[in-house]
Amino acid sequence: MSGVMTGGVSRSAGRAGPALSVSDLRVSFGGNHVLTGVDLDVTHPFTGLIGPNGAGKTTLFNVVSGYVTASRGTVKLDGADITGAPQTLVGRSGVARTFQTPKLIGDLSVLENVLLGIDGRSSLLDQVRQAVSLRGRGQANIDRALSVIDTFSLADSANLDAGSLPLGSQKIVEVCRALVSEPSLLLLDEPAAGLGRDDVERLVEPLKRWAAGHGTTVIIIEHDLELVTDLCDDVAVLHLGHIIARGTPAHCMSDPQVVEAYVGISDRGGADGDKGGAIGKGAGGVNA
Ligand SMILES: Nc1ncnc2c1ncn2[C@@H]1O[C@H](COP(=O)(O)OP(=O)(O)OP(=O)(O)O)[C@@H](O)[C@H]1O
Ligand SMILES: [Mg+2]
Repeated sequence: MSGVMTGGVSRSAGRAGPALSVSDLRVSFGGNHVLTGVDLDVTHPFTGLIGPNGAGKTTLFNVVSGYVTASRGTVKLDGADITGAPQTLVGRSGVARTFQTPKLIGDLSVLENVLLGIDGRSSLLDQVRQAVSLRGRGQANIDRALSVIDTFSLADSANLDAGSLPLGSQKIVEVCRALVSEPSLLLLDEPAAGLGRDDVERLVEPLKRWAAGHGTTVIIIEHDLELVTDLCDDVAVLHLGHIIARGTPAHCMSDPQVVEAYVGISDRGGADGDKGGAIGKGAGGVNA
């Protein structure tokens, strides 16, 4: 690994090259070849990463954020090689993420959960071990966390236990926790899954404003293709571990390979059929 950024955050404004550049990334779990050579340069403020269930989308996020080590390939953040860097170092380099299933600490308050993201950089397990509380937290950090919470209209819930909130609010709290570190690159893994339309709106408009105001690059995995179309000028479609289409949402969703990928999945049905159906619903040009 060379040229790793060790502190501070970079901004998309004035950026010469891609915010994220992934090259020939390969990951296998035993005999399951999950990523089979992913090449992806991210240059737009919002890039959608879509693809059928099991395509390898979360695995790609896991590699970029340092949770999984690739057997081959490189990951560069603003040109700095972070291949194989552990999650704490990736976090310090300006990458924050959310998880497909929210990983909040249910009996800490919303504010305490968001404060955990300020360091953005210690593992969740470490954070639990530290038995974090508001005591010892600087007022400046608390103000910063409250400001993010307020941006997403959750100020009234700041002192409630995160676990007591409905799923939609919990997912938004996770986004707040990721944003509070003011990342240069934000990875959102299905932030709208399980959310009603009202929650999606509570998430999307503030997110757009935040990203524009902070120069944050956002990559969003999402099966809600209506949301992807709303947010993203740029979409990459992952299928069977590699990118099969790239371009505008309309371009990707009318690509015959993409249609085939979704139709094939839909024809096969499978245990996660509900989520597969959700892909087709908002698909626009995808007749799945
Ligand atoms: N840690 C792991 N160990 C073994 N297999 C894994 C691991 N993580 C992912 N996989 C497998 O890799 C494949 C891709 O999983 P991944 O979660 O990346 O897909 P995805 O595109 O995010 O799917 P979904 O849309 O359902 O979330 C699946 O077959 C999954 O079972
Ligand atoms: Mg996933």
